[in-house]
Amino acid sequence: MSMDTSVFESYESEVRSYCRHFPTVFAKAKGAEFFDEDGRRYIDFFCGAGAVNYGHNNPEIQEKLIDYLKSDGLMHALDMYTVPKREFIQTFEEKVLKPRGLNYKIQFPGPTGTNANEAALKLARKVKGRKNVFAFMGAFHGMTLGSLSLTTDKASRRGAGVPLDYVTFIPAPYMFPELDVIAYMQRLLDDDHSGVEKPAAVFIETIQAEGGIRVFSVDFLKALREFCTKNDILLVVDDVQVGCCRSGSFFSFERAGIAPDIVTMSKSIGGYGLPFAVTLIKPDIDVWKPGEHNGTFRGLPRRDLNICSGIR
Ligand SMILES: Cc1ncc(COP(=O)(O)O)c(C=O)c1O
Repeated sequence: MSMDTSVFESYESEVRSYCRHFPTVFAKAKGAEFFDEDGRRYIDFFCGAGAVNYGHNNPEIQEKLIDYLKSDGLMHALDMYTVPKREFIQTFEEKVLKPRGLNYKIQFPGPTGTNANEAALKLARKVKGRKNVFAFMGAFHGMTLGSLSLTTDKASRRGAGVPLDYVTFIPAPYMFPELDVIAYMQRLLDDDHSGVEKPAAVFIETIQAEGGIRVFSVDFLKALREFCTKNDILLVVDDVQVGCCRSGSFFSFERAGIAPDIVTMSKSIGGYGLPFAVTLIKPDIDVWKPGEHNGTFRGLPRRDLNICSGIR
C-alpha cells in the first residue's frame, strides 16, 4: 500500500533530501531495524549517518533515559555546573581519555557536528593567529559557513551564497597515488611562490565518510602528525562520523597511535540519537576567554549519556 507522503510534499521545505530516496513513512525502530507505518521491516544500514551506532532504542540507554525523565532530572541549564555533566566529564576522563593516555579539555559546543567544527576552526585561528586552514579534497565537515568552507562537494558549497574563503584544499592521497602529499604540503609552506598562506590547522577525517568511504593509511596519518608538529600547525581530527567506535576503536585515529591537537565529536556521542557534541582541546591551546564561543544548547544534562557511547 502506498503511504501518504502528501503532508511532507505540501508543507516541508524543498531542502528535504534523504526522504526522497526512501518513499515510505517510518514509524518505529529497534536495534538495526526500521519499521514503516504498515509494519514492513527494513535493515537500517544508514544508522543515522553514524548517529545511532549503539542501535535504535537501545534498551540499556532507554531505561536510564526514562528513569532520568521520571526523576525530574534537569533537562536544560545552559553551561552551568550540573550533576549529570560532572558525571559525564568524570566518566569520559576515566574511561575514555586516561586509558588511552590522552589529555584533553572538553568543550561543549552546540549539539551538532558542524558546531563542534566551528568551535575547532575558530579556536585554531585564534591560537595560531593565522586565517588559512588546510582541508582535504573529498572532505565533509558540516553545513554552517565555517565548516562548509572546509567541505568540498559542489552542491553543498553552492548553497552558501557568499565566498567560502581561507581554506586550501589538499589532494587526498587516494586521488593521486603517485603524489607525495606530505611533500606537496611542505612545498606549499616553503616555496615563496606557492601563493599559499601557512595554515593554522589541518582538518582531516581519518576515514572520509560522506566523500565515499576512504580510509587514510596509518603511515599517512603518522606522517601528517609529524608534519603538523614540525611546522607548528594544529592537527584537527573530525571524528563526528567515524568516532564513537564506528571504526572499531573509540577514536578513529587510535590505529595510527597519534594524538591530534583538537578532536571533534557528535552523532553517536549522544548515545540514543540525541543531539550532543564535544570539541576536545589539548590543555595548552585552550585559550578561550569565558563565553567567547557561546550557545544555548551546550551539553545534554542527562544521566543516560554517561552510560552511552560504549563508555562504561
Ligand atoms: C565528518 C563529519 N563532520 C561533520 C558533520 C556535520 O555534522 P552535523 O550534520 O551534525 O552538523 C558530518 C555529518 O555528516 C560528518 O560526517
